[in-house]
Amino acid sequence: MNQSEAIYEKASRYIPGGVSSTNRLVDPNIVFTRAQGAYIYDADGKRYIDYHAAFGPPVLGHCNPEVNARVAETLARVDLVGIGASELEAQLAEKICQHVPSAEKVAFCNSGSEATYAAVRLARAVTGRRRIIKFQGCYHGWHDAVLMNVISPPDKIGLKDPMSAGMTPEVVDDTLILPFNDIEAVTQAVTEHGPSLAAIILEPIPHNIGCVLPRPEFLRALRDLTTRHGIVLIFDEVITGFRHARGGYQSIVGVTPDLTTMGKAIANGFPLAALAGRADLMDHVRPGGDVMFAGTFNGHPLNVAAALATVEILERPDTYPHLFALGEQMRQGLGELVQEHGIEATVVGFGSVFLMYFMSGPVETYTDLLRNDAQKFVAYRRQLIQRGVYELPVNLKRNHISLAHTVADIEATLDAADQALREVAK
Ligand SMILES: Cc1ncc(COP(=O)(O)O)c(C=O)c1O
Repeated sequence: MNQSEAIYEKASRYIPGGVSSTNRLVDPNIVFTRAQGAYIYDADGKRYIDYHAAFGPPVLGHCNPEVNARVAETLARVDLVGIGASELEAQLAEKICQHVPSAEKVAFCNSGSEATYAAVRLARAVTGRRRIIKFQGCYHGWHDAVLMNVISPPDKIGLKDPMSAGMTPEVVDDTLILPFNDIEAVTQAVTEHGPSLAAIILEPIPHNIGCVLPRPEFLRALRDLTTRHGIVLIFDEVITGFRHARGGYQSIVGVTPDLTTMGKAIANGFPLAALAGRADLMDHVRPGGDVMFAGTFNGHPLNVAAALATVEILERPDTYPHLFALGEQMRQGLGELVQEHGIEATVVGFGSVFLMYFMSGPVETYTDLLRNDAQKFVAYRRQLIQRGVYELPVNLKRNHISLAHTVADIEATLDAADQALREVAK
């Protein structure tokens, strides 16, 4: 038995399935014990170039020394006081309001799920309405209003596909599921249900099914429709926020939602998330306001310190050009390999996010991805893992490049991809 197996055996004796989050148990079931920069190391000492990146947070790379130093320095003087206003939170909120177009005020919590929960509750409160629209393929966390229709099987398309037992049916009923990039479907739903619609929530780029780019006119039409019908538009930028730009994808596409949720990359691996938006909406969550927003660990000083250090690094002029250039190098290299090997595949991505679907394009909505050869997708990634490149071996999962990755890392990855594709083509 190797070290990975020994650790997993002990973990599974005491933790259901051995892991604390559903998607963490995969085959091969490797236990990682160290992370540094662009690399993760398993319990038996093998090094991998990491693109899984814990589903997205370490945009600067693992254990960034400046972030860790700021956290250590903060920890030397405060752990959690948890009463009154906080200087660190004020500094971070100011930065978010400077960078994110929709952010006039910000409230901090610990996870993306908490942020989207609060966003939906706030939208229901300010509109006095109960229904929301979400899109097939988008993931917004584990709570009942949104936990449905992400990677659905073909027979569930167009139907409700709740992802857990124990969800409250009335809450599930209040969520309408529509196809992404389909403005006609949204227009029809708004015409039919407008007076009961509190919010439309979406990932502006649905990265939970890899990378499906929005048609810019789709986002603009959502903005127009929601404004006209008094519906709150929520951009869930938990992945895209701070990864693609300091101002999130909204700053790139030029469409400003009413509310924005952020998490993941904002604190480079420390558990911080945020709900931001129009001041008149956000003011409902003030103490004494009509919308409850609370949490013992909200705005924890260590996580806020990590976020401040992260955002300061992201403010440097070279950061996004580096991330985007490496993304481009990777996509171009993979595209050439696909051609050389004569494999039916489509390389997609945006900025530091990339992946390869094993199907021909175009990819504009979830149903297009039903053509993806999931077996090949996973087999290719298992081949990469054997060669020291870690891309999560789960269908449709995206990959993330960090500031710590180098041109040499991308070249090494493309070498491994060349060999992996040769195996898959056999
Ligand atoms: C777009 C999006 N929103 C919300 C969430 C939920 O965030 P968390 O896992 O921090 O609760 C995720 C998590 O992957 C996400 O990708």
